[in-house]
Amino acid sequence: MYLIRVEGDKMSKDLDTLLREKRIFKPSSDVVKSSNIHKWMEKHEINDYDELLQKALDNPDWFWDELAGELEWFKQYKKTKKWNPPYAEWFLDGKFNIVYNALDKHAKGPEKDKLAYIWEGESGEVRELTYLDLYREVNRFANVLKKLGVRKGDTVSIYLPMILELPIAMLACAKIGAVHSVVFSGFWAKAFQERINDAKSKVAITVDGFRRRGKLIELKENVDNILDKTPTIEKLIVVRHEGLNINMQEGKDIWWHEAITEMETECKTEEMDSEDPLFILYTSGTTGKPKGVVHVHGGYAVGIYTTLKFVFDLKEDDVWWCAADIGWVTGHSYIVYGPLLLGVTSILYEGTPDYPDPGRLWKMIENYGVTVFYTAPTTIRMFMKFGEKWPQKYNLDSLRLLGTVGEPINPEAWIWYHQHIGGGRCPVMDTWWQTETGMHIITPLPISELKPGSAVKPFPTVEADVLDDAGKSITGGGGHLVIKSTWPSMFRTLYKDPERYVESYWSRFPNIYLSGDVARRDDEGYFWIQGREDDVLNVAGHRISTAEVESAIVSHKSVAEAAVVGKPHDIKGEEICAFVILKEGSGSTEDFEDIIKYHVRKEIGPIASPAHVKIVKDLPKTRSGKIMRRVIKAKVKGEPVGDTSTLANPEAVEYL
Ligand code: WT7
Repeated sequence: MYLIRVEGDKMSKDLDTLLREKRIFKPSSDVVKSSNIHKWMEKHEINDYDELLQKALDNPDWFWDELAGELEWFKQYKKTKKWNPPYAEWFLDGKFNIVYNALDKHAKGPEKDKLAYIWEGESGEVRELTYLDLYREVNRFANVLKKLGVRKGDTVSIYLPMILELPIAMLACAKIGAVHSVVFSGFWAKAFQERINDAKSKVAITVDGFRRRGKLIELKENVDNILDKTPTIEKLIVVRHEGLNINMQEGKDIWWHEAITEMETECKTEEMDSEDPLFILYTSGTTGKPKGVVHVHGGYAVGIYTTLKFVFDLKEDDVWWCAADIGWVTGHSYIVYGPLLLGVTSILYEGTPDYPDPGRLWKMIENYGVTVFYTAPTTIRMFMKFGEKWPQKYNLDSLRLLGTVGEPINPEAWIWYHQHIGGGRCPVMDTWWQTETGMHIITPLPISELKPGSAVKPFPTVEADVLDDAGKSITGGGGHLVIKSTWPSMFRTLYKDPERYVESYWSRFPNIYLSGDVARRDDEGYFWIQGREDDVLNVAGHRISTAEVESAIVSHKSVAEAAVVGKPHDIKGEEICAFVILKEGSGSTEDFEDIIKYHVRKEIGPIASPAHVKIVKDLPKTRSGKIMRRVIKAKVKGEPVGDTSTLANPEAVEYL
């Protein structure tokens, strides 16, 4: 990996100056020649990256048929896709199960004794599962689910931290045709309650407790507090992880380890239709109600298999580490399903990157010989702050490729990552995608020339564009990032909300997918993602809606009104600022800052808790009564507030 061009400004400082970033890094010919994509191009007589992109755009069905052919179908599909925007179906009339490809196939092949997962707990404890072990554990648990009456199409709600039982539970659901709905363990139990009720789950899964930064989180106890508000739940399966002495309710609560003891290690894999749902994963939108993004077996599998194979170039001997949480889509696609489809060894870790010390990740890379590593820009920026001395203590020579996801990466962080973690030899794959897209959408490949801070170009076959407000394609300036084609792992709908599916994503520009991000494209066709254009915050790579935080704040009995905006932050990207009007007679405002922070923590979870709370007398509003977030945001950023003539109460600006 070497620098081939530097022009203009070397050190661009923030996202607005991203377009002035002129450094280009070219992968070495070793990296290129040994890559999966290069070999695949050779087979198809494709000479270079541009030709690959063009050929794939011209023949998307050819591209996806080739890759779908690398997976096993119980019954061959008849038609590659049906694209009737905004509705897509892929691999029509095919019979398929993602778990057959992720697990059954390997448990019967020569790779059965290969490690599927190496798990490391926060205390340093290690658990390893071979493909055969994982297959058996999944089958036993699938038999438990069946015995409890879970049937094809039922939704099982899962609330587990980063322990092996989480992928086991997900795979067991998918194996028998049930749909999983995983709730991030960092959310408060109320999120679990809402999701259980939305999906009407009969069976839910949780854990006695787990540790984060040494602090014990008693998840089962939190779940007990919501179970009286989840009328559909018949059984709660509890994993014993911390060995806590918890209260088990007779007839309802079941220990995981007891339930599996008598179960067979074989279980039939249900033959699913390609388009049958695999999971629901909730994500934040512009309103307070999270959106239940629905993914299906066939297309989803083909999309993540292909991207992981070509973007992260995984091969048989790789040790892959996607250091995200399975509770987010990154973990669903690239910790659970993707690496298993490719049959590689993955690392799973419980904890946080800086605990017990900032050497945790680097030590693990050395210990396990990690070859490809994927994390978020916020983590990289955190390590830039701790300094090079931490990664320098460890031998990171096993690494050959790096990746980032979740938010725009500033060129300085990219360069630091490339230099201090990648030793200057590992290409950095800045992958742009979303819960809705299921797979990488705008991303480099190991053969691409890289510009620090750019997610490079659309993945083969994807037709991405930047549009101005009138829907005209633009180059240079910022605009709406859209996708004009379908892709196999596209979400199919929003759970129980088909209208919102159309309205949120496909209406601004009819039949074109609106991502909600602002991006620029330079004159070489490289995409530079700038961030969200809607009222969605991105805090440390996590998507949080302002409306969700506002409604949590307003649910406090003393609060009359609230407005939430994001404030740029060096490490987290954005942090949450809340402006709150208290009801009259609420007493002293002094303690309320902490009370509000704690309240949001309880309602949503620590990640949504505001960094700053300010109690104010009034909020700037339009004459129709709408809070003007633009004005509040400008104030928070210390920028001019601009025209306030349309405000009903211009004096409110002073209170902020
Ligand atoms: C939003 C999607 C995709 C898995 C993690 C987040 C932002 C994601 C990048 C990137 C700039 C990025 C976007 C997007 N985002 N990756 N490489 N560069 N921004 O999934 O929670 O659905 O969030 O994350 O704003 O819309 P998600």
